[in-house]
Amino acid sequence: MSILRIGILASGRGSNFQSIINEVESQRLKVKISLLITDNPLAFAIERAKKHGIEYLVIKPETFKSRDDFYKKIADELKKREVGLVVLAGFMRIVGKPLLMEFPNKIMNIHPALLPSFPGLHGQKQALEYGVKISGCTVHFVDEGMDTGPIIIQAAVSVFEDDTEESLSERILRYEHKIYPEAIRLFSEGRIEIQGRKVKIKGAINPEIFLINPSIE
Ligand code: GRF
Repeated sequence: MSILRIGILASGRGSNFQSIINEVESQRLKVKISLLITDNPLAFAIERAKKHGIEYLVIKPETFKSRDDFYKKIADELKKREVGLVVLAGFMRIVGKPLLMEFPNKIMNIHPALLPSFPGLHGQKQALEYGVKISGCTVHFVDEGMDTGPIIIQAAVSVFEDDTEESLSERILRYEHKIYPEAIRLFSEGRIEIQGRKVKIKGAINPEIFLINPSIE
């Protein structure tokens, strides 16, 4: 079987992108990162791509006549490189139709809350303000909605009384960096099956990534 080629879409810091790079470089994740696309010329993700010899493109929406043209261009660049999975890693936009149609059930996103709770921006802050005792992160397939697609993996963390948005975000992020590469691994091994809203996973998954870990520093 030929190796899965993935394309990353990121708008900012790119720590999830880095966690994927690390897994690929250590050969625990056997995929090829073919391309980074960013909509933000100042994204730190670009520095990460440069450092690791990954091709990158800056594609700015304002240079296109329409939103559809912007997403068509992204889809074309990904297709050109025979990408089989599109990985949104802090891509701060709702994915447009031309990209969704080109990659049905082949676009993943990570969200910093336990969906369907607290979709949209600032999931960690929303959770904190609501007063939940447990939050976490979710990897899901992308559909037309805002963080509404079928859920692939979730990890939960405790929320402490003295948490700030920063401390909770940091705790969640550590789990993001575990579950995102794991979800990509499952996909690359053909172990994910979508049945309606439900995602079935064949075989065992690393149980460590699901733990609620109250002792995490
Ligand atoms: C993460 O919290 C992710 O869950 C959300 O955006 C943030 C991106 O962080 N979708 P990074 O750019 O991967 O560091």
